[in-house]
Amino acid sequence: MKHYSIAIDGPAGAGKSTIAKMVARHLNFIYVDTGAMYRALALYFLRNNISVADKEAIENACNYADVMIDYKDGEQQVILNGENVNSLIRTEEVGNMASASSVYPVVRLKLVELQRSMAKKADVVMDGREIGTFVLPEADLKIYLTASSKERARRRFIELKERGISADINEIEKDIIERDMRDMNREFAPLKQADDAILVDSSHMTVDEVKNTIIKYFEEIIQNSSKELG
Ligand code: DC
Repeated sequence: MKHYSIAIDGPAGAGKSTIAKMVARHLNFIYVDTGAMYRALALYFLRNNISVADKEAIENACNYADVMIDYKDGEQQVILNGENVNSLIRTEEVGNMASASSVYPVVRLKLVELQRSMAKKADVVMDGREIGTFVLPEADLKIYLTASSKERARRRFIELKERGISADINEIEKDIIERDMRDMNREFAPLKQADDAILVDSSHMTVDEVKNTIIKYFEEIIQNSSKELG
């Protein structure tokens, strides 16, 4: 049976997970958050005081960190060595470690296998950095979702404020630009727009506009493929 896949790639803070979740819910697909998987491994490295500069230690630790995905009430749960770590992986510290440690091919290949196997079993909306270019090169629809670094920093600032966390917006933007540089310039499977991906710049769009744009593109694909078949 054919399973559909929608790949949503883009830089940190572009709104990928919010949008991917909404699109998945609308289409009744499974939402696969690949960043959460990198974050779970990052948490393992942090907990075990593994320096990200120590390639050998990172490679060795990958043999002991088992990442699994489960779904509870439609929400993705990341299980690290049997422990649900969903509530522990959303910190800046874990995000930065995930960005730094994901440059290692051994880290990536471990998770890519899991991601591909999920797309084989179900219709998925998968978000990440290289889903369209590397994980699912045959995805039915590829979206490259971005926004200016200023706008992404502004959204992050508001999100933190709502959670009662004070932060400096300029520091956030600096962090975002640094993370973009690292994600775009790593040697193995960097963040970049796939040749056949559609660019969606959400800087001046509402979440509903972005969601509806992506659904419209997907519906066009389905219509065209049924025309081809018929
Ligand atoms: O999307 P996120 O902020 O949860 O991702 C955290 C880091 O994980 C990101 O900076 C880079 C890495 N990552 C990756 O390399 N490839 C992915 N498909 C997803 C995330």
